[in-house]
Amino acid sequence: MMNIALIPAPEKIVYKSGFTNAETEIKTEIDNAVPAEGFAMDIDGGITLRASSDAGFFYARGALEQIKFQCGGQIPNVHIEDSPRFSYRSFMLDSCRHFISVEDIKKMIAYCSKLRFNVFHWHLTDDQGWRPEIGCRPELIKIGSVRKGNHFGAEQNEEIHSGYYTKEEMKDIVSFAHKNHMSVVPEFDMPGHASALLKSIPELACRGKKVEIKTKPGIFKDIICAGNEKTYETLFLILDELCEIFTDEYIHLGGDEAPKQQWKSCPECQKAIADEGLKNEDELQGLFINRITKHLAQKGKKVITWNESLKGGNLDKSVTVQMWMDPSHLSVKSQNKIINSDFFHYYADYPYSMTPLKKVYCYDPMVNENVIGVDAPIWTEYIDNIKRMEYMCFPRFIAAAQTAWSKNKPPYAVFKKETADLIPYFGTEYAAKPEEWDPKAYKRLPGIISHFGSVSPSEKARKIFAKNDSAEKN
Ligand code: ACM
Ligand code: ZN
Repeated sequence: MMNIALIPAPEKIVYKSGFTNAETEIKTEIDNAVPAEGFAMDIDGGITLRASSDAGFFYARGALEQIKFQCGGQIPNVHIEDSPRFSYRSFMLDSCRHFISVEDIKKMIAYCSKLRFNVFHWHLTDDQGWRPEIGCRPELIKIGSVRKGNHFGAEQNEEIHSGYYTKEEMKDIVSFAHKNHMSVVPEFDMPGHASALLKSIPELACRGKKVEIKTKPGIFKDIICAGNEKTYETLFLILDELCEIFTDEYIHLGGDEAPKQQWKSCPECQKAIADEGLKNEDELQGLFINRITKHLAQKGKKVITWNESLKGGNLDKSVTVQMWMDPSHLSVKSQNKIINSDFFHYYADYPYSMTPLKKVYCYDPMVNENVIGVDAPIWTEYIDNIKRMEYMCFPRFIAAAQTAWSKNKPPYAVFKKETADLIPYFGTEYAAKPEEWDPKAYKRLPGIISHFGSVSPSEKARKIFAKNDSAEKN
């Protein structure tokens, strides 16, 4: 009898004696007792798959492919039962800092569907570029999708960087994702991270301040005015168009890293605070997100926002909160549903020296009973090609997928060995090599320095990492 490596690890696997010809015809049976997205598989002379959903059959066939990949023509007789721990299992790509081609996005979707991620979170708008074509505001791509200059670590030049997705291309991505049993959550980041929007439509800035598209990473004070009715009218029209393309349940409204200096000195924002009886600018952000949530609810959409929108204490309970960096633990204390994107464990854009594979794998995302799932992001300030993206994501996305799917995880050493064996099955050509997954202490600082081109952009960030690391006992 041989042991089978399956990633993500199954809930139940019972080995039986004997082997079955791998080419045996597959029988499928609909079984409504099998949980959503789950499956059962019996290999016992025949091959039978049972599921209650198309996604369940898709994942069952994937598991069977993994078995054939490692066992060849004779596969061991076995009974498997499996279903996901979380209903929301996501990865995020940032198309703003560096544009990602449709072909490369499809590659990432295909890899991630094999890991049973069922959501593609697509970060489409930011300070460094606006990417989705919007028919009613053509200036968003004409102006907002083009920047002159790239100042990201080792990449320092004054070249034009541009790129946008036509409506047809976005619909094509949605349809490709659906074929891979994935929904698509577009992110339109607001009120911060909005320089490309504000450069294109200047009247949405507080008092029409002049804003430039940014050419470097960071947090910028230019944010959308929340006291101007024109803001809401315009955002609703843009969102209405996005809703026609992105037909799934959720729209992501960003809400992260929005400094409030401009709102503090803007008469319109201050008037909105006074008129609504709000205490401060954080409450104004809550109101801003709530107002847009109400508009989207009329279109049957639910909203996700990063955890900063909780600061005001007035965020609508229907909004799902994506926890990434939350030192006050507001997400954990809130009643809102939570998606866990913990910065220290799931951010795949940081080097292995900061976030080793073991750290991702050993993390338990269940910070409270409201967690509905996981989202592993790859931001692209320091990533401008698919080779680098695959290197950063794989195998860390494999470990993130385990935390999202598996109710019981095998010990890390078992996972590491199985991952090394199965990486060719997942198809990524440029995954990091096993010796790079968990760098030794003496390699960690050089790893950080080489990743960022010189030194980390933030000494503070490195200190937070060091502290968080020493607090961990993985
Ligand atoms: C984030 O990383 N600013 C959500
Ligand atoms: Zn304002």
